[in-house]
Amino acid sequence: MKTLVTGGAGQVGSQLIPYLCELGNEVVVFDLAAAPTTLPEGVRWVQGDITDAQAVSSAVAGAGPEVIFHLAAILSAKGEQDPHRTYRVNLGGTYNILEAARTNGVRQVMYASTIAVFGPGLPEPVQNEVSLRPTTMYGVTKVAGELLGEYYQSRRGLEFRGVRFPGLVNAGVPGGGTTDYALWMYVDAVRHGRYECFVEASSRLPMMYLDDGLRAMVELSQAPRERLKRCIYNIVAISPSAGDFADAVRKRVPGAEITFVPDPARQKILDSWPHEVDDSAARSEWDWRHEYDLERMSDAIMERVPALIEQLGR
Ligand code: SER
Repeated sequence: MKTLVTGGAGQVGSQLIPYLCELGNEVVVFDLAAAPTTLPEGVRWVQGDITDAQAVSSAVAGAGPEVIFHLAAILSAKGEQDPHRTYRVNLGGTYNILEAARTNGVRQVMYASTIAVFGPGLPEPVQNEVSLRPTTMYGVTKVAGELLGEYYQSRRGLEFRGVRFPGLVNAGVPGGGTTDYALWMYVDAVRHGRYECFVEASSRLPMMYLDDGLRAMVELSQAPRERLKRCIYNIVAISPSAGDFADAVRKRVPGAEITFVPDPARQKILDSWPHEVDDSAARSEWDWRHEYDLERMSDAIMERVPALIEQLGR
């Protein structure tokens, strides 16, 4: 099948590309960044700006995909540094993709949503259909993107599906999210023997190993239409605290010194998100199951940390 991936240079996209290739898809990427030097064979890379409707439209027309995985976005922490650009990239970009999909006969758009669509004070575990009142520009644009996609499904005949990702962790460079501390804990424990975490040890959030997240997107994309009762699904795996991550790291890097010095801006974002999310709709409508718990995730990350350090420099 022909697919187009936006945000292919990002944390999720860079891993989704090889995964889609392994599954036998023909992949075209659309990203602001230039193509990396190593790309799976056959992948075509189109460099362009998601806020440029014309560029998006011609990339979609040129690729002729059946499915678009729309991942291009600015994450929560980076988003607060430039809310205007975040609005243009996240919401304008989603509008451009949906329009290009509609006018070019794309069958399905897959959307990366997030737990950042939730605001403070919701009863936990947070259900799939609740009042969405986020306090970050990232969250606001992701809620609007969910609604826009639902509109295109109900009024414009496009198939629109998405998952609300928890914090995604893998041994890849994270893109400026609030949940990035989890990965840096492993990396800096190995390369420096210490890490100063920018949130409190007690901070607890839904988290997921990236491989589970990639599989979720693909499985939802392939789920039979008649089983799905909605467009957007909560998905969760584990909900460890930052302190639990530190324990998992210390177990693997004996003597690692992990301290907690909260950065008020990022702590505030984290505190606005729920600790526990209910994903029973995904589990019953398309058989979603996570495979990685904290131990398995930590082992998988540790295996790849040396290569990441090589890439990042010491
Ligand atoms: N990982 C994201 C962030 O921290 C949440 O979707 O912004």
